[in-house]
Amino acid sequence: MSAIADLREEFENRLARAQDGPALEDLRILFLGRKGHLADQFKQMGSLGPEDRRTTGAALNELKIHCERRLKEALGRMASSAPAGGRGVEQVDVTLPGRSVHAGSAHPLITTQNDICEIFRLAGFDIETGPEVETDWYNFGALNVPVDHPARDMHDTFYLASSTPPGGQGNKDPDAYLLRTHTSPVQIHVMERQKPPLRVIAPGRVYRRDDDISHTPMFHQVEGLWVDEGVTLRDLKGLLEYFAKRMFGESTGTRFRPSFFPFTEPSLEMDVSCVICGGSRQCRTCKSSGWLEILGAGMVHPEVFRAVGIDPGKVTGLAFGMGVERIAMLRYAIDDIHQFYDNDLRFLADLGAGR
Ligand code: PHE
Repeated sequence: MSAIADLREEFENRLARAQDGPALEDLRILFLGRKGHLADQFKQMGSLGPEDRRTTGAALNELKIHCERRLKEALGRMASSAPAGGRGVEQVDVTLPGRSVHAGSAHPLITTQNDICEIFRLAGFDIETGPEVETDWYNFGALNVPVDHPARDMHDTFYLASSTPPGGQGNKDPDAYLLRTHTSPVQIHVMERQKPPLRVIAPGRVYRRDDDISHTPMFHQVEGLWVDEGVTLRDLKGLLEYFAKRMFGESTGTRFRPSFFPFTEPSLEMDVSCVICGGSRQCRTCKSSGWLEILGAGMVHPEVFRAVGIDPGKVTGLAFGMGVERIAMLRYAIDDIHQFYDNDLRFLADLGAGR
């Protein structure tokens, strides 16, 4: 019992000397901490008889409550009287200017994707989406991509572990799951759900087993599909010229080059006059050609219509697909695609400012 009385005295002495918050905290740990003086005393009670143990226990508990109360009072006194800048107690200087709230902004890729969609929405297109995990059928088969096409190779595409592994060159299992390599499968979903006439635009993420200075394993595309009686290549060219001028400015030139996609016939690629050098052929972006390729397009292949049960003798369709990263890089004059994914706030704030 005398040890307990000594402890109380020592506590009071030390408390009288404690000047600030940290000193009080040290004192609390010294007495009430897990390895503190009181814990020591509680431990020693094990060697006492039952009667002594009861009285000692009560005294120790009382001391514990006393210490807690005294510490709390001291802390309260310090908070109300501490001079500005005193340690351990938070000070509020109400004369400081406020800190602005960081509101953030849409990512430049999403802004670009939205702007692309808006241009087509104004031309009467509805926005559609599709799943990022597709079957081989939707991503390839229904789009008339032959089984031995190299894009189906394991090395070009991400197959899901639960799906049947593709047998050698080219996957022959139409139910194998994979991450879509383009947004074109949305064409199939839409035509299964909706009868023509239809006009849809489908933005979204796509995946390819590509990773270098100009490719990332995940990127974004916007797909377009217009199916009706009498849709022609003229409509396709007119629509894409309208898009190019809206996106990059009225003075933007366009040119169409023949190309090949299994799901369109004829197929073409559209170039726009270089938005960096203005077509003057003095730049790296267009490799001094004055032109930049921005999308693939064509007239929907009859086999694609057959795959979704539409009679290719009754309607025709146009389709196109473009990479959002590519368009955003041109629009913001960025030369490294990885910057979009580095999460560098300075880069994002620069491009997001004022949007
Ligand atoms: N899906 C093609 C690609 O990813 C683009 C495309 C879409 C081409 C629609 C023609 C028609 O390269």
